[in-house]
Amino acid sequence: MNPLSQFLKPLDPDQSQPLYQQVQRALRDAIQQRALGPDDALPAERDLASALGVSRITIRKAIAGLEQEGLLVSRRGSGNFVAGRVEKNFAMLTSFSEDMRARGRTPKSTWLKRSEGTVTPEEALVLRLSPGTPVFRFHRVRFADNAPMSVEFVTIVASCLPGIDSVKDSIYAALEQVGNRPVRALQRLRAQLLNGENARLLEASEGDAGLLVERIGFLRDGLAVEFAQSYYRGDTYDFVAELSVP
Ligand code: GLP
Repeated sequence: MNPLSQFLKPLDPDQSQPLYQQVQRALRDAIQQRALGPDDALPAERDLASALGVSRITIRKAIAGLEQEGLLVSRRGSGNFVAGRVEKNFAMLTSFSEDMRARGRTPKSTWLKRSEGTVTPEEALVLRLSPGTPVFRFHRVRFADNAPMSVEFVTIVASCLPGIDSVKDSIYAALEQVGNRPVRALQRLRAQLLNGENARLLEASEGDAGLLVERIGFLRDGLAVEFAQSYYRGDTYDFVAELSVP
């Protein structure tokens, strides 16, 4: 990790770029290169002003710009913080790994279990499969950098993957390699309080607000590939969707 001081050098007033934009760039670089991590507090305005050799008004203007970019959030009475929540477009059929990378975060997982079996009656109904169809099951905690985001249970129809070990870090990457990545999905979001086990895995407290997101993914020919249940911490994810008039 780069020390923050490396990004906070006195700026050059003779540069053509306005000073507040130079400040904005220096702080943006510090966030993107992880000298400041998610939810870290930004140094006090006066300290930033003296380190960068600019006025506090310039610092405030830069901070306002970074808030607009979604990189900083200000909390009343306690200062400015690096944004910790992730905004996810509810209508995009992307994977957790892709979502995190697109935000400059590093996706990580802790594997809890992977197993082979046949569909449960519930999975058979949801995936419209005959009883006895072989499936692979994956159970992971998913992290953005080191922050736990979700506990995920994914069932994949076994015929869609060459083997259970073909999944390394990303299920969608493994499916894509063999041309079986879902191209359409149904997704349902439901508010749910975190139970003891999921709360523990997500470093939250039992009964904290959570979100259950269920996804059924289909191939081009309409056959189901996956049934996923992801339990998110309610305070880390915002699902957004663009609405249009029918
Ligand atoms: C999201 C989706 C899941 C999907 C997963 C794949 O979390 N809600 O339905 O299985 O992404 O993620 P990855 O390819 O990173 O394993």
